[in-house]
Amino acid sequence: MSDRNMEASLLYMFKERPGDYISGEEISRQLAISRTAVWKHINKLREAGYEFEAVSRKGYRLRSQPSRMNAAAIMAASKASVLGRSLKLLTVTESTQEDVRQLAEQGAPEGTLVIAEEQTKGRGRMGRRWYSPAGKGLWMSLLLRPQLPLTSAPQLTLLTAVAVCRAIRLAASVNAGIKWPNDILIDGRKVCGILLESACEDERIRYCIAGIGIDVNLSEPEVPEELRRIMTSLMIESGQPVDRSVLAGAIMTEMEQLYTLYVQDGFASIANLWEALSVSLHQPVTASTPSGELKGTATGLDPSGALVIRLQNGQTHKIFSGDVAIDG
Ligand code: BTN
Repeated sequence: MSDRNMEASLLYMFKERPGDYISGEEISRQLAISRTAVWKHINKLREAGYEFEAVSRKGYRLRSQPSRMNAAAIMAASKASVLGRSLKLLTVTESTQEDVRQLAEQGAPEGTLVIAEEQTKGRGRMGRRWYSPAGKGLWMSLLLRPQLPLTSAPQLTLLTAVAVCRAIRLAASVNAGIKWPNDILIDGRKVCGILLESACEDERIRYCIAGIGIDVNLSEPEVPEELRRIMTSLMIESGQPVDRSVLAGAIMTEMEQLYTLYVQDGFASIANLWEALSVSLHQPVTASTPSGELKGTATGLDPSGALVIRLQNGQTHKIFSGDVAIDG
């Protein structure tokens, strides 16, 4: 087991038994390592900001966790075996999308994940900027290398939205839903955006970068005033801070489950899950498409992942890209 996985297993033991003392002997037995190695790994975790109390004849007790994200905690929270296992955690970067793009071009493996505490040039969809303040959000990009035609990329976007929405619901106990194609909303306000960028060759995907931006621990005054009407954070909605490492681990778990299902069985089951979490279906909507505005009712996804809208005159229309606003 690598040092990082050992520290993840160690943390997992303490998190399973909050407040308990665990003896060095028990840890050494459970992890099949020497007492000196236990001490070494506890010290590594201390360096990462974990505080342990050590009491003779009782053992170690986890007193507090760092507010910064750390790899061992993410690994401990994740059940994924491929996605997120190659991980780079950065204090500050321009955009994690760009970091992963460079790694992809250098041959990085599927599942490579880059997470930053802060982004100085965070990118949103349609060329928008993405506000990414230090320590407050989960700003991350995941490399996928599916053997698929480029036309499947929108399905991967919807898959990512389902995975992130499920993870948010689990990690923060909030009632999050998806607005087409891939915004995650709570009570009508956006808490997460997803940007899927693809590189292709001969109409086949070479790789995709799933960029995920979640406003996690911003307090109400920390949300820029001009955005307060449309944007919220998990902390504002759940009333308590959310552990970003646990959330990142949960996203990797959900992503890997759904990605495996998708690669084996195709898009239909993902589409059902997406529809079940959608807040934009069976609602009057206005869709802004590259060819203009459309008003109607969103009725579901077609097999390719396009949103089907029934217009007021009864005709149906498929939307492949753009934005959808839920009307009044
Ligand atoms: C949107 O416009 O809703 C999508 C926002 C995506 C933001 C994330 S944050 C991590 C990754 N790095 C970026 O520069 N953008 C994505």
